[in-house]
Amino acid sequence: MKEYHFEKIDSTSNYLKNNYEIFENMTFVSSDFQTNGHGRYNRVWESKDKENLLFSILIKDKDLISKYSSLSIFSAVVIYNVLRDLNVKNISIKWPNDVYVNDKKISGILLESVSFSGQIFALVIGVGINVNSSSFSDELKDKVTSVSLELGNTISINDFKQKIYNEFLVMFEGIKKDSNYYLDIVRSNNYLKDKEVYANIENQKVLVKVIDINDDNTLKVSVGKKEYNLYSSEITFNL
Ligand code: BTN
Repeated sequence: MKEYHFEKIDSTSNYLKNNYEIFENMTFVSSDFQTNGHGRYNRVWESKDKENLLFSILIKDKDLISKYSSLSIFSAVVIYNVLRDLNVKNISIKWPNDVYVNDKKISGILLESVSFSGQIFALVIGVGINVNSSSFSDELKDKVTSVSLELGNTISINDFKQKIYNEFLVMFEGIKKDSNYYLDIVRSNNYLKDKEVYANIENQKVLVKVIDINDDNTLKVSVGKKEYNLYSSEITFNL
């Protein structure tokens, strides 16, 4: 296993995607600061210098690549486990790729692939966790939180990083043996359960109620008596 740390980089995920050939499976890259950190839908991932944990993990193991559709929510469970062990309360997992505490986002996950002609050669799991930030932009301040805000004290980002990396390594061994063993944690801490979200069903935007998460990681929702199983691309959140 190889770990690299930068004081500053454009994006830990871009770095691993661009260099996936030279790095081994499970290479872990972190940075104090990113000049081009990004999240889902190409949104900017904001993080002040040295306040938070920003990292990416390279996956080249074919067995894990085949579990592509599970790895976002699986990573949320890894983060959930470490936060729970630190005694953070009221943690929930927001399908498909966020970790929330007390209704506020504490971590976001972006799973990207390196693929050519339809074949996936590598995956990059990119994670941002708000660790010691105590103030956020006006746009974010009511929507996000950090580990230090929840615990009431700052923590060592380096120690936290090692805990997260170790938990990823342990959990990767688990998912290789039993693909769905992490799903119980998702289901019992499902942020969206019984909430309403907008879904694209038969080309119509419909308000649906979230029931559960299926074994194939799709979201089970209902509209009246009808049930649908939806992929994340079919959902927009109105929370
Ligand atoms: C999201 O919530 O939309 C996902 C955010 C993922 C951000 C992390 S920070 C480390 C890694 N590098 C990036 O450019 N993005 C991910």
